Amino acid sequence: MKRVLLAGASGYLGRAMLAELKTRGYWVRVLVRTEQQQQALSQIADDTFLGQATDIDTLSGLMDGIDLVFTSIGITRQKDGLTYESVDYGANLNLLTLAENSKVEKFIYVSVFNADKLPGIKIIQAKEKFVARLKSSWLPYCVIRPSGFFADMKEFLVMAKSGRVYLLGNGQLRFNPISGADLAKVCCDMFQSEQTEVDVGGPEVYSHDQIAELAFKALGEPVKMTHFPLWLVGALVSVMRWLSPVSVYGPVEFFAKAMSVDMQAPCYGEESLESFFVHLANIDNRAS
Ligand SMILES: NC(=O)c1ccc[n+]([C@@H]2O[C@H](COP(=O)([O-])OP(=O)(O)OC[C@H]3O[C@@H](n4cnc5c(N)ncnc54)[C@H](OP(=O)(O)O)[C@@H]3O)[C@@H](O)[C@H]2O)c1
Repeated sequence: MKRVLLAGASGYLGRAMLAELKTRGYWVRVLVRTEQQQQALSQIADDTFLGQATDIDTLSGLMDGIDLVFTSIGITRQKDGLTYESVDYGANLNLLTLAENSKVEKFIYVSVFNADKLPGIKIIQAKEKFVARLKSSWLPYCVIRPSGFFADMKEFLVMAKSGRVYLLGNGQLRFNPISGADLAKVCCDMFQSEQTEVDVGGPEVYSHDQIAELAFKALGEPVKMTHFPLWLVGALVSVMRWLSPVSVYGPVEFFAKAMSVDMQAPCYGEESLESFFVHLANIDNRAS
């Protein structure tokens, strides 16, 4: 069975990827950056490697015996004072450089759907800079382009719980987010596929209004929504760009812009967003 290096295993998609790879019988080494993560993941992974993806000098031996690489390393929400350039681009570039100098057969990377329709956004610029470098590599590769993750839909539930959901635009834009487990299945399939780029959405397409309605339904609360015009959101993001550091405006800019275009990607998977919301609402109920 092939030996996989999984980078990003502590994240939402990475955790699902680890479970899927093990279900399919792969031998898996995970790259982690803290001893705590190493301890937690050593229960599931076959091997753990402690190193800083942003510092290539700490990664010696990482690719030894590895056939396939999957990386979902990235900072969706900024932390640690690092930049998109040093993580989304730099850390993944370190992995690619090491892979190119070893016997790796395929490199899979996760960027975003509709990147070409979202120009000028810092996080996407860093990701697509890496994609360009990956495409120029002699290594066989695949770029996964998900529309959005269930994990990020939690924000709808949080707002619904507080009594009102605030939406950008008229609420009619289309979106099909996907669960980590469903996306992990597509990612694993790509190890055997000839496809070099794949757009991936979840099985159900919703308008933003419908997602908000599902969140209220899961909580058993009446629907209350407020829509902000897109021009106002655009103006606010522009002001934030001037007044705040990238660690503050970066995530706001990404989510605001992504929510201002249709994000309907080809449908995959079977897990429903409604069940995800109901599951979270039940956890909340039990906790309170
Ligand atoms: N969320 C979405 O809707 C969406 C949509 C399309 C694409 N994507 C992209 O898909 C990828 C995976 O998303 P996700 O939701 O799984 O993200 P996540 O839960 O935030 O996980 C990100 C992973 O990157 C690692 N990472 C972050 N900074 C690092 C650093 N400086 N050095 C080493 N590792 C670092 C994290 O490790 P630690 O746990 O150690 O921080 C974690 O394992 C991301 O690149 C994201 O941009 C996301």
